Amino acid sequence: MRNPMFVFDEKMADLVLGYCRQRLALDPVPLDYGGYAASLPSSLRDVLGGLISPEGNDPARVLELFSDHLATAVISADSPRYLSFIPAAPTKASLLFDMVVSSGSLHGTSWLEAAGAVAAENQVLTFLAELAGLPKGAGGCFVSGGSAANLSALMVARDTASLRGNTTQRPRIACTDEAHSSVGKALHVLGVEPFLVPAVDHRLSGEVLEAALSSDQPGAADVVGVVATAGTTNAGLIDDLSGVGAVARRRGLWFHVDGAYGCGALLSPAARPLFDGMELVDSFVVDPHKWLFAPYDCAALIYRQPALAKAVHTQDAAYLDVIHVALPGSAGAGAAGAGDGEAGTTGAGPGAAGSGAETDTGDEPWNPTDYAYHLSRRARGLPLWFSLAVYGTDAYRDAVETALANARAAAALISATPYLELVREPTLSIVLFRRKGWSRSDYENWSARLLADQVAFVTPTSWEGEPTARFALLHPDTTADIVREIIETMA
Ligand SMILES: Cc1ncc(COP(=O)(O)O)c(C=O)c1O
Repeated sequence: MRNPMFVFDEKMADLVLGYCRQRLALDPVPLDYGGYAASLPSSLRDVLGGLISPEGNDPARVLELFSDHLATAVISADSPRYLSFIPAAPTKASLLFDMVVSSGSLHGTSWLEAAGAVAAENQVLTFLAELAGLPKGAGGCFVSGGSAANLSALMVARDTASLRGNTTQRPRIACTDEAHSSVGKALHVLGVEPFLVPAVDHRLSGEVLEAALSSDQPGAADVVGVVATAGTTNAGLIDDLSGVGAVARRRGLWFHVDGAYGCGALLSPAARPLFDGMELVDSFVVDPHKWLFAPYDCAALIYRQPALAKAVHTQDAAYLDVIHVALPGSAGAGAAGAGDGEAGTTGAGPGAAGSGAETDTGDEPWNPTDYAYHLSRRARGLPLWFSLAVYGTDAYRDAVETALANARAAAALISATPYLELVREPTLSIVLFRRKGWSRSDYENWSARLLADQVAFVTPTSWEGEPTARFALLHPDTTADIVREIIETMA
């Protein structure tokens, strides 16, 4: 008898797809509750008790348990009332296509196995590279998140330093203490010391970087790369990308931009000048699961010269040799051969030279596994690809610009509210403000109450040592009315 796990069960399919259909139709989705003990309807341990058993369970019972007890204990990051951390706002098309990726077990490790998926992912990477102003030939892969992308990019920065003339045994990467925590974590994993440059008004500038590198600060000569942030998580600030990029170019440093949150705004022509200097990067990351309206988990990691990344990241094993050989019939088979170490050359990437973006994707053998520290990978760029193809880039531009406008409107409302104080005008879509007279515990109590009342999920942060309220406004449906409703609870 066949193992029933591998037999299509129409009833179970109807059950689960019915749930998905219902969730997708919710407008808006409920905010729900996370791990706040006071808001949990019952002990999760009690709910889950005995569920994993030799005999299994009726799927209807398990789904009901999930729907009634587990799903409600997950705050909906895609709710327009979720304004903490960095929210999610996946489009309906991207969520639907995520189910296609799951149903089809779509993977995207190598061209040999998954040319169709890889070609589509590369079409999106080319689009993003062009937005950043990178030349043809730029490319990379989708990884699970900004943290994975930063680690993968900085590994290339470290391992290619000698090609740029720095043979230090103690490589360092310059950044400010405003860089995302994942940058510090990546450097720790890589055994690379940060070379801390003071931030001026919370931003890294080319001038201060140059001064630090020219000083007798210990480690200055060991610096092999620099990380700038395009959209800090706490405040949405953008470093002096053109100044930092110019210093990096002059000194032969790897220039990485962490735009995990902020680079979504590259889609806005109005915001684009804020990113001047992006065209100088050696690598950058933007998380579509943040401000490009894709489902988790999806980060685009793009290199100016993918061959450099390939030389660092390609995994060698006897059983993998087959994915690195030239594929008969492929237009550019073998053009960027495995581990070829063509430092300083441009690989046959998603935007490989010779033709326009529309025609130069889809023909080149390309192994996404070669461009980050991973091997097997889900074709996680496809939900974004489908959604971009369906709705068009204008709809994305409009959604990004709505968030930018919502942030400006929220800032204006805060400025006009006597009991509040705007910390600074928003650069992107994050708004920092204070309730006059409140302590940290006032903010925390208010935040818990907001969630318990299902008004919003807004967590406090701090700014220059003071407790501060923070709105991250990237869902286009976070209306002025929602913002006003939240603000009125602080009176
Ligand atoms: C600027 C920045 N970099 C990196 C990250 C880490 O990204 P992820 O959570 O996708 O790993 C974040 C997350 O908020 C971020 O805002």
